[in-house]
Amino acid sequence: MKLTQLPVMRQPAFEDDGTVTGVIASARIMAGSLLFTVALPAGVVHEPLAGRYFLARCVEPTEWARSHDWTFSLRRPLFVAGWRPATAADGVERWLLTSPQLEDSGVNWLAARPTDAPINLVGPLGNGFVLPPRTRQLAVVSEPARVAALLPLIHAMLDRGGRVVILLQAHNSIEPLLRDLLPLATEVHQEAPGMSWRARLQGVLAWADVVATALPARETAGLLEAVQTARLRVERGLVHCLVDARLVCGYGACLACLTPLANGRWTRTCVHGPVFDLADLAAG
Ligand code: FES
Repeated sequence: MKLTQLPVMRQPAFEDDGTVTGVIASARIMAGSLLFTVALPAGVVHEPLAGRYFLARCVEPTEWARSHDWTFSLRRPLFVAGWRPATAADGVERWLLTSPQLEDSGVNWLAARPTDAPINLVGPLGNGFVLPPRTRQLAVVSEPARVAALLPLIHAMLDRGGRVVILLQAHNSIEPLLRDLLPLATEVHQEAPGMSWRARLQGVLAWADVVATALPARETAGLLEAVQTARLRVERGLVHCLVDARLVCGYGACLACLTPLANGRWTRTCVHGPVFDLADLAAG
């Protein structure tokens, strides 16, 4: 279903405290991820999109609950998976937001919200993937649960007339919902008997002008090794990673999101990422 076809009964609004209250137009579980379509008031900043995130408050929208219910005291990140401009009919923007963390109790609480329920958000936050001007061949490497966060980048590449190969870290056949979400013009590969994940990864790394990844943090070391094998060195600008970190405050204050860097230091993923050049990341 197209984002613009989803009707909303309530009006989303900007709040005095700098947050924004959206309205849930649909919620789906797909390939281990939550996919929300949320209506937001026109005027939310939206460029660039892939890799950026909102932080969602997990609480009922009542005055009492806002002040007293701290069951889920921390906001949960929802990554941008798509955006449609406001229509003349209702003047609201439609955003597709996603979380790969279905095992998290707060994300589960969000997933159970009914259609037309309000959702309080901060964002969009963080930097995003930027396609270098001369890119013609984009490789996307991801788990099925995380790939929706790269959809805006995939569409941007196709709109430019480039080619996109998607390599999914999945043994089982791809869920129909996910297949429908991935543009037909993309070439989708996944793990299969007879060829190792490493060999497939090296294949797309050798083919691509630019690579975008959304993988668990434990995969960073393997990714670095595969790039060194396929390209002899980790070229700056080649591989951009949506880093798997705990995004909590979004403003660099709590230090929950620290990510190790190749220079031996640590950085705050929420404000300096969550997208990083692989050349800057440590193996972890
Ligand atoms: S999420 Fe709090 S410092 Fe990054």
